Amino acid sequence: MNKTDVLHVNSDTCYDIIMENGFQGLGEHVRNVLVCAHSVLIVSDEKVYGLYGDEVKKTLTECGFEVKTHIAEALCESKKTQSTVTEIYKSAIDANLTRHDAILALGGGIVGDVAGFAAATFMRGVNFVQVPTTLVAQTDSSVGGKCGINFDGVKNLIGSFYNPALVYISPHVLCSLPQRERCAGMGEVIKYGCIRDASLFSDLASGDFDISDVILRCLRIKRAVTEKDSHDLGLRHILNFGHTVGHALEEYTSGEILHGEGVAYGMYAMALAGERLKITAQGTAKSIKDLCEKHGLKTDYTKYFGFEKYISRDKKRTADGIKAVFLTEIGSAVIREISVAELTGLLYG
Ligand code: GLY
Repeated sequence: MNKTDVLHVNSDTCYDIIMENGFQGLGEHVRNVLVCAHSVLIVSDEKVYGLYGDEVKKTLTECGFEVKTHIAEALCESKKTQSTVTEIYKSAIDANLTRHDAILALGGGIVGDVAGFAAATFMRGVNFVQVPTTLVAQTDSSVGGKCGINFDGVKNLIGSFYNPALVYISPHVLCSLPQRERCAGMGEVIKYGCIRDASLFSDLASGDFDISDVILRCLRIKRAVTEKDSHDLGLRHILNFGHTVGHALEEYTSGEILHGEGVAYGMYAMALAGERLKITAQGTAKSIKDLCEKHGLKTDYTKYFGFEKYISRDKKRTADGIKAVFLTEIGSAVIREISVAELTGLLYG
């Protein structure tokens, strides 16, 4: 018997995160939340749809949905653009989608971000279902409603907060993830240990953990934080630990560095900066470096000398600087406003 875990999210809108192994139950869960829907437009990429598209289509069809598809070629950061969203709008029009219907994202964080933005804006909003297939998307980006595109070389500059009606997570798909993507996903997982859960950090260091359990632990933190601050005005910034540097590195390398890889560099960088500022307990940066390396992630960010000029374009900037996330110790994060010049100085010691 397939086990089902359910996390109920009580945010601006309420929705469930369902975790089951396999897609057999997906159609029924979608039907339970979209009682009046007639059609579902699956947005995916060729690789993921080739692996799981038939199963997903079958379960939705069996539950009475007319299923249409929008299958893109590989969707990388450089394709997170308005023209990709426009192509999804065209498929939604071809599919005769109404406001009762849904767009379903089947894929990683980029698919979720562009499909979510299309769902948020097509006819001022159609239902949205997230079926994340990467570790980054399962532990982080599929929950909390952030969606959008890159613009003018800045990551996620245009976007919205648009909660899904349902998030359906099947950890079995992680076995088909390329090793590099899986390691990158561990960057987001380690982040959750850093900001809120020292015991998760220790379990990851011991190597003795079950990935489904780890995903649920990350999601419980994400739920707790986004329920308190859905629009990223305060507390939610802690979820961006390591992201200010990480995003700058992603932009500096034009997407050569994967998101989770950037987060790993960024967490180490911010822990070092925090130690230099005497906010962070000494030895924290070394613990993060060791754990990242254990999970195949690099941390030597200084080799990307010059990346710091991208920090000033961070969305968390204020008139006087940026809202930076530091750790006091593993498991505890604080937000401090700091000028970009001071942060840059700290990053280079
Ligand atoms: N990934 C950070 C957030 O959802 O706020």
